[in-house]
Amino acid sequence: MNKLAYTVFVAFWASMATLFAVSGIASGERAQEPKTQAQQEDVLAEITMEELARHDHEDSCWNAIDGKVYDVTDYIPDHPTDPEVMYEWCGRESTEAWETKGYGRPHSRRAERMLEPMLVGRLKEK
Ligand code: HEM
Repeated sequence: MNKLAYTVFVAFWASMATLFAVSGIASGERAQEPKTQAQQEDVLAEITMEELARHDHEDSCWNAIDGKVYDVTDYIPDHPTDPEVMYEWCGRESTEAWETKGYGRPHSRRAERMLEPMLVGRLKEK
């Protein structure tokens, strides 16, 4: 009986040790440093001005803003202006349009957050 109790005791702690080891390894994998903005930008697809210019129509409308390229196609019907206001900027470098809305006032923080998931890459520097 004593031997059985001993075996159960050892088996229990051995399995506990295994669990700790496995969870330690798993959390070690998770504990990687978050990527810096520069590292994140490195993994973004590089988009040339020529590629950007191909997305200059209502079925595929890309804007380059501050060196990043966004696919804004699906958002155009929801934009609070006539669609023409955004169509004019499809396939083009649009930082100034974004920052001024055409009349000197920047888009809101809310608009910036909406833009983030539309990111498709970064504009290739010449
Ligand atoms: C690049 C060309 C663009 C131009 C010229 C432009 C212009 C404008 C104008 C004239 C307004 C309405 C007036 C106002 O609210 O002040 C507006 C509002 C707005 N636009 Fe744009 N827009 C552009 C791109 C975009 C894009 C790509 C987004 C996607 C997130 C966006 C999101 C919004 C939002 C959410 C508003 C409501 C007001 C705000 O939150 O700032 N716009 N924009």
